[in-house]
Amino acid sequence: MSYKRKDLLGTRDLSSDELMFFLDYAKEFKNLNNQSIKKADNLRGKTVINVFYENSTRTRTSFETAAKRLGADAINFTASQSSTKKGETLIDTIHNMEAMKTDIFVVRHNCSGSVRFIAQNSNACVVNAGDGLNEHPTQALLDLFTIREHKGSFKGLNVSIIGDIEHSRVARSDIWAMKTLGINVTLFGPPMMMPNRVDAFGCRVAKNMEEAVEGADVIIMLRVQLERQGSSTPFPSTREYSKFFGLTKERVKLANKNPLVFHPGPINRGVELNSDVADSECSMVLNQVENGVAVRMAVLSTLIKNRG
Ligand code: CP
Repeated sequence: MSYKRKDLLGTRDLSSDELMFFLDYAKEFKNLNNQSIKKADNLRGKTVINVFYENSTRTRTSFETAAKRLGADAINFTASQSSTKKGETLIDTIHNMEAMKTDIFVVRHNCSGSVRFIAQNSNACVVNAGDGLNEHPTQALLDLFTIREHKGSFKGLNVSIIGDIEHSRVARSDIWAMKTLGINVTLFGPPMMMPNRVDAFGCRVAKNMEEAVEGADVIIMLRVQLERQGSSTPFPSTREYSKFFGLTKERVKLANKNPLVFHPGPINRGVELNSDVADSECSMVLNQVENGVAVRMAVLSTLIKNRG
């Protein structure tokens, strides 16, 4: 079992073996991260540049942490403070940084497909840290790692993904990976935030919050992505959103025994997730963040091995 590709661009075309390889490998790094000295030399002498055209807290800092713990020189490129503002193109920007002998680019961009475009035009390894509405593969890997850690296996598991599915690259990467691993996925969200062809995902679609939560082992709440909704807010008030689409403690009671609640962050408290759930024992929000570092260490180590 291994992963032989140059890049990690999404989960849609990954096999079950490739997904499981990353989850198994990440365990080694989780153990390392629990030591007092969290250092390995898998990326010693290598250069990783985090190329971020969109804001990030978790993904960028965890990739930077992962790269540094593996001994790499980790550099952060922030588009808003770069020559992008003077009109430099995406590929010119990448080629200039590649000329500095960069080994891995970790890229977040607002356009779907842009990270694949970079991978096709660069000899360096490329990791997709979120491209538009398309994919966020390391988020899916850290979600799966956290689910397996708490539930033991994926067999017969029911996962409900709830909220702004249309604008969520997290939802897409989770759905593709979970379907490959045989997980039963249910989707639910406001009609104005559901993709037109939601049936194309091949998932069960719930009619209301209660139906979406009932029988779930894992509930993944999605952030309402106001930055992708254009000029008009797609719902009249946050109170109304919370009433029809928010996860409350009462609703969590409808789920299976010992349910796990996930959220990729940042949370809109009181909108998609109430604080009494976000800060409760069933909340995996900070476990997801912790496991994100281990998963990203596994991804970076694998790609650098493939690069030779
Ligand atoms: N989960 C996630 O992508 O969070 P950030 O936007 O803070 O990186």
